[in-house]
Amino acid sequence: MLEKLKSILWAAAAIMKNDFGVTAKNDRANVVTDNDLAVEKFLVEQLRNIFGDIGFICEEENLNDAKPHKYLAVIDPIDGTMNYVRDMRLSAISVAVLKDGSPYIAAVYLPFTDEMFAAQKGKGAFLNGRKIGVSDKTTGDALLFTAWSLYNKDLAEPCFDLCREVYPEISDIRRLGTASIELCYVACGRGDMYFEMRLFPWDYAAAALILTEAGGKIGTVHSNGVTYTRPQPIIAANNDQNFNFIKQKAEKYVTKDIYENGIYKR
Ligand code: IPD
Ligand code: CA
Repeated sequence: MLEKLKSILWAAAAIMKNDFGVTAKNDRANVVTDNDLAVEKFLVEQLRNIFGDIGFICEEENLNDAKPHKYLAVIDPIDGTMNYVRDMRLSAISVAVLKDGSPYIAAVYLPFTDEMFAAQKGKGAFLNGRKIGVSDKTTGDALLFTAWSLYNKDLAEPCFDLCREVYPEISDIRRLGTASIELCYVACGRGDMYFEMRLFPWDYAAAALILTEAGGKIGTVHSNGVTYTRPQPIIAANNDQNFNFIKQKAEKYVTKDIYENGIYKR
């Protein structure tokens, strides 16, 4: 199944070479291209052919039919859409297939560097077929990937406050504009910690399996473990020590009040 999943991501990447138009979603920082829609449509068709009884949580089209399915695919057709629009060549196609509520197989493909991150539950994580693992960096040497609540800028301030507090205690901070790639980079030791105020399941579902199979840890604030059906704050790290470090900082700034009210209120 994982090999088939990788094949459809390779095939979908060809669509990203096509010319595209750009449309703003609800604000000018949040854009979608014709190719986001075309890649997603292609992936849905192909996954239906392979898995049969499969439901979908997709970024661009709401295909959630609320029926129970044997499998659930969580799809981000292009993660890092703004990078793609601005020709930065750092974007990915991200697909997780969940069974019994948690990721079972997953792939994140970076067409511009031809890098395929992939994992199957219990079988390890791989980059272009080579087994990967997290770094052994301690907190003082850690690189943190983060962002500043891009689509809810009213919550940017606590994200900046977290950066201000963490920055002197670690090596450096990166903002790459693509959560799935940043989490895969933690999985293969190119970075060591991750925090974002509010991610959607399609941003992290595939990378979550790749990261945990690589020996890393992913979670959220004020509870244990992540879920794959609603947006939430995401923290991740290469080891327990760094995970606890970033979790404690995140819980200071993503307060229970922010978490239980405002953008998280359901
Ligand atoms: C976004 C990117 C970005 C992150 C946002 C995501 P998109 O996904 O992963 O790095 O900061 O939270 O929504 O919109 O490019 O698919
Ligand atoms: Ca996207």
